[in-house]
Amino acid sequence: SLNQLYEEKVRPCIDLVDSLRSLGLENDLNLPAIAVIGDQSSGKSSVLEALSGVSLPRGTGIVTRCPLVLKLKKITKDKNWNGLLSYKDLTKTLNDPEEVENAVLYAQGVLAGKGEGISHEMITLEIQSCDVPDLTLIDLPGIARVPTGNQPKDIDKQIKDLIEKFIQRQETISLVVVPANVDIATTEALQMASEVDPTGERTLGVLTKPDLVDKGMEETVIKTVNNDVIELKKGYMIVKCRSQNDINDRLDLARALEKERRFFQEHTHFSSLPEGKATIRCLAERLTNELFEHIVKTLPDLQNQLGIKLEKTSADLRALGDGVPPGEHNMIKFLVKKISQFNDDLERVKNAEEDVEIP
Ligand code: GDP
Ligand code: NA
Ligand code: MG
Repeated sequence: SLNQLYEEKVRPCIDLVDSLRSLGLENDLNLPAIAVIGDQSSGKSSVLEALSGVSLPRGTGIVTRCPLVLKLKKITKDKNWNGLLSYKDLTKTLNDPEEVENAVLYAQGVLAGKGEGISHEMITLEIQSCDVPDLTLIDLPGIARVPTGNQPKDIDKQIKDLIEKFIQRQETISLVVVPANVDIATTEALQMASEVDPTGERTLGVLTKPDLVDKGMEETVIKTVNNDVIELKKGYMIVKCRSQNDINDRLDLARALEKERRFFQEHTHFSSLPEGKATIRCLAERLTNELFEHIVKTLPDLQNQLGIKLEKTSADLRALGDGVPPGEHNMIKFLVKKISQFNDDLERVKNAEEDVEIP
């Protein structure tokens, strides 16, 4: 069955890459990941919230100020929700989804300072829940148009550099979030993605805010979803997330999904969209599959990179010689040997210096 396929194949692959990442190998290897990018207020956090079932920091201005690795792990219904936030050498266990928002804000303050600056240091949030897909996503700051009072003058460039660092890797799938109620050709995020991935081989478009599309513009949106406007190999999906009104009315994420389902089912125009193109539920399924296929595709290269790393590290280790032997007597002998080796090396360096002719 499909479930069994997930348990046996998909999950181990995603876990493998996650454990390499948590071992700190992200800086040495290019690990497969899905990076979420978009212009400010395009709906990135809303999409991530809907996928994770957890409220994330939101608001105007730059809310996401560090890369946030969101690891979602599906667990069985009999187990409790749990979260683990880590950054630098710190970890914090979370027992309630309500704690997430403040914990992330606090971590960002530690890494990126109190103002509105950004940092390249990552925050990792692992969520285990029976309501999430098996998926790892990286949330990135939104592309700012104009810096506000407290922001560094070059904030626009800083953010673009950070985004580029992620999306230029062959191992990254870019999830480009674009509001359905704006002209898609003008979105900077899609332009950035197409610069590093001209054919859209590793770019998936996600249209948001379908409820805000002007009357008469629905057919254009449908054309975009059908890949007839700006073509991407992976195409587009469309979702409806919580509006500010929904949040003011305390619409929870579970009920928002139900509302979304009804919206697409009953919509005069969007109900005609092809099966599998609309709703967060379809997006979650699609992303899990995309990530799995991407990992399988990148595994040979990952193994290659690991082999090269291992060889180099083993050579370095051999050069260091044997470790400290047990027993006080042996330890002293070992220390004396190391000191005399060090003296020899020093002598050799001095002689080499004397050999250099001064013109
Ligand atoms: P981000 O800056 O890209 O992370 O954008 P946010 O997720 O914070 O969303 C910006 C605003 O758009 C928020 O007020 C959201 O509630 C709202 N929003 C997001 N998705 C939708 C949607 O599908 N419909 C409507 N009406 N509003 C949405
Ligand atoms: Na890397
Ligand atoms: Mg956001």
